[in-house]
Amino acid sequence: KGYFTREHKLAGKKVIVTAGPTRERIDPVRFLTNFSSGKMGYAMAGAAAEMGAETILISGPVSLPVPSGVTRILVESAEDMLQAVEAHYDSSDYVIKTAAVADYRPKTVADRKMKKQEGGSTIVLERTVDILQQLGENKKNQVLIGFAAETNDVGQYAKDKLERKNADYIIANDVTEAQAGFESDTNRVTVYGKNGFEQAFDMMSKQQLARQLLDLITEKEKLHDS
Ligand code: CTP
Ligand code: CA
Repeated sequence: KGYFTREHKLAGKKVIVTAGPTRERIDPVRFLTNFSSGKMGYAMAGAAAEMGAETILISGPVSLPVPSGVTRILVESAEDMLQAVEAHYDSSDYVIKTAAVADYRPKTVADRKMKKQEGGSTIVLERTVDILQQLGENKKNQVLIGFAAETNDVGQYAKDKLERKNADYIIANDVTEAQAGFESDTNRVTVYGKNGFEQAFDMMSKQQLARQLLDLITEKEKLHDS
């Protein structure tokens, strides 16, 4: 029964998943990025498709195969990711923001390769758009799910983000913990939701965790609807 239910829990639903890092260009040969491997996001997209959702995976540059049944859109920068997400937002039921979006980008992008100089150098940065926060401000019936990788005060920061971004769930993990970080195949998270909801998961593979997270969220949302 469990498997059958999983196959169909998201039938007729459209799910957007963002995954991976973004790249913010400095010049034609250099960029700013982060350690996101995309593994958790690709696992979320694969699990959503398994559960019957029309699944759009909006991915920064990673080298992972596209999960079966998933439509992938490749993007580079935070700005590209924002455009791609917005194009699908109105028609979506769930948005899962697993991507590690750069918070800053170089204020100007040099159109020629920057040459080294004597002494140090300074790159002036400006903020990117907070995609999840923007989605939260324009939310209709979508269920918004954010991820938060923290090194300290995990619960407090997760709850702050839940509120600030008007998200329905924040899935938080402590990246200083062994085998729960960016490159790892396993993860251990705690889900934070509205009205003080909090549920900790055991350490497990990202695939398995993705299924359990979607099981939890779809069950909770079903109770909401009825
Ligand atoms: N996020 C986003 N757009 C950004 C930054 C973050 O959509 N420009 C999303 C991420 O995809 C994630 C959630 O917000 O789902 C939390 O990301 P995180 O980096 O933990 O939160 P920030 O608000 O950027 O806070 P900080 O980096 O200072 O902890
Ligand atoms: Ca951030």
